[in-house]
Order: sequence, then structure tokens, then C-alpha cells
Amino acid sequence: MFETLKAMPPDAILTLIEEYQNDSRDNKIDLGVGVYRDQSGQTPILETVKKAEQYLVDQQSTKTYLGSDGNAEFNEVIQALTFGEDARTNKRITTLQTPGGSGALRIAAGLITRVISDVAIWTSDPTWANHIPLLGSAGVKLKSYPYYDLDQNDLCFDSMLETLNNVPSGDIILLHGCCHNPSGMDLSKDQWHVVTDLIVERELLPFIDIAYQGFASDLEEDAYPVRLMFENVPEMIVASSCSKNFGLYRDRLGALSIVAKDSAASVVLRSQVLNIVRTLYSMPPDHGGAVVSYILNNTDLRHQWLIELNTMRKRLKKMRTLLGVALREEAPGYNFSHIERTSGMFCFLGITPLQVDQLKSEFGIYMVNSSRINIAGITEDNVERLATSITAVL
Ligand code: LMR
Repeated sequence: MFETLKAMPPDAILTLIEEYQNDSRDNKIDLGVGVYRDQSGQTPILETVKKAEQYLVDQQSTKTYLGSDGNAEFNEVIQALTFGEDARTNKRITTLQTPGGSGALRIAAGLITRVISDVAIWTSDPTWANHIPLLGSAGVKLKSYPYYDLDQNDLCFDSMLETLNNVPSGDIILLHGCCHNPSGMDLSKDQWHVVTDLIVERELLPFIDIAYQGFASDLEEDAYPVRLMFENVPEMIVASSCSKNFGLYRDRLGALSIVAKDSAASVVLRSQVLNIVRTLYSMPPDHGGAVVSYILNNTDLRHQWLIELNTMRKRLKKMRTLLGVALREEAPGYNFSHIERTSGMFCFLGITPLQVDQLKSEFGIYMVNSSRINIAGITEDNVERLATSITAVL
């Protein structure tokens, strides 16, 4: 029966994990998959997560089923974290725990195919490599708007607006809430206002993917676009993730929030998404949700988590600066200033796929083919070698 199936190409980002592990060079550098690493190159479990897990080991008394929306306490705290404390119990928003941000994206795509016919989701060009296959697999039509000019290494806001101005009313605009993946180039607050006005005027539906809240400026600032849109639009979708800010990558924890016109519409939408979840995976795994709700509902742990989050963000910022400075010295004829102008975990180096391959084969430096680098893979110990290797392939 299965002999008619053809092999699928491996996932471009996840393959890098294996390739890097199989490289026996001691001085290899991993700038591939988007996980945080500390100065020693490790992806640590946060102390607050350890404490919450210990509490669960000691105190959790059952592993019985929850509902398709997962952990109710998590849903409330994550709604407050994303939309602000004032929106903690807002009846226009319905939030449910999902298996990672990817789960949230997939459920949202399923909802879109159910309720609206013939609309497209417009993704930024470029966007996270898995956005298109993930959303497309639900059967949604996908189109793109210009976002980042790879030649100039800069945002192309005018072209973005020009395209969005011609998007048919009712279509859905997928935006990265902060730390744009892959470019690291975010809209300024003023630009978010312009986009919000355009969305309202043209009756488009914003769909915000916020997978890196806390990694650009801070938790509140990073959620500014979500809150701005929430105040201004009648309906929106938000997919959020705890993979990065809680370091819960493999525990798969995210949330889907849908904003409805009013509380009655919200009840209907909730029943729809719960039905989609039940027919796909029944309910999300509990562990991550139990951990995060314990941390966020405990004053001391919440405070300690904010310190841990700040530490991660500051390290990323410092590594950007170190690489920027090192490249200015090593390759004075080239302009890498965008590395320091971008934020979050990623930016493009702006080199060709051939040069990316050369960095891998000759120097053991791994990154996505597009030359997207994970800033967290840089350390004070490897930055010089990274800069000289990049210079060598220019
Ligand atoms: C990334 O972009 O590297 C991360 O979001 C991990 C992934 O699943 O692709």
C-alpha cells in the first residue's frame, strides 16, 4: 500500500541539529536551530522551571485527563501575559493551551478553513521556514507581502504597505509580534500604528505569532503590537509560545488566543476550536502548562523567572554587539550593521548559500541555508573565530 509514497525532503532547520551533532570537530559552532544557549553553549533548564517541576513531583496528585483546552490556570495566566493584566478574564478573548506555538498555528489554520472560504493568509517574505508548510497543510491559501530586503539588509516597509493596501478585505495578515524570525528586524511602534490603521481600514484580520515574548525589549514592550491590535480590531488571532521564554522547547507549550467581536461570538469560536483539537490530538500534554502556571502564580518564582528571562535577553544583545564589533574589525569593507540593529534570537548574515556551505564544510559553522544565524550560538570564546571564518568566505 505505501509503496506509492515518495520520500519527503528533510526539514531544513531540524536537520542541522543532527548534522551538527555528527560533526566531530571540537571548535564547531552551532548557529542553526532557534534555541537559547548560555556562555558555555548549553541550553539550560531554568531554575524556576526546576523548582516548579520539583513542586509538581511532590504535590501533583493525579494525571487524569484535562479538557481539550488544557490547563485552565495556564490559559488565564498566559492570556494576561500576552494581552496584559486588564485582559486576564476578558470575555472577548478565548485562550487554550496548545502543543507549542506550532500547535496554536495549526489549530488556527484549521479554524480558518472551517469558517471562511476563499481567504488567504499573507505571510511576511521572508518568514519562519515552517510557517508555510505548517499552515498550508491545513489547506489554507497562502500569499506573501514584502518585509525584509535581503540586498539592503533592511525592512522594506513601503513595499509592505503597498502590498497590504491591495489585500482583499477579509484576508488574514500573519505578523511576528516581536523578534521577527528569521530577520530579527521588527516594526517600530509608529510602524505598528500604521499597520494597525491599515488593517482596520481595509477590514483585514491580524494573526500575530509571538514566539519570543521577552527576548527583544521586555515582556510588556514585546507584547505592544498584540495589545495595540486588540484595542483596535474586532477580531484577531494570536499564537504564543513558551518554548523560548521558559526554555520548555521539548515539553511543547504554547497557546492560541482568539479575539471575537463580543462574548457570544467568543463562546461559539471556543466550541469550534475545542472541536478541532478533539479531532486532532484530543488535548495538549499537561506538564509545561502546569509548570508555567505555577511559576506565574507564585510571586517569588515569577520574580525569579523575570530575572532569568532578562539574563537570556541581555546575553543575546551582548553577543550581537560582540559579533558586530568583531566583523567591523575583520571585514572593514563590508556592512554588517544590521546585526546590531536587529533583536531577538536571529538575524541574517547576508551571505550566499555557497558561503553558508563553505562555513559548514571548512570551518564547522552551522546555520540555515538562508544565512539566518542563531545569535545564542555565539559565545565570548568563539566570536573571534566566527568573525574570521565569515571574513574568509566573503
Ligand atoms: C527555529 O526557527 O529555529 C525554531 O523556531 C525552531 C523550529 O522549530 O524551527
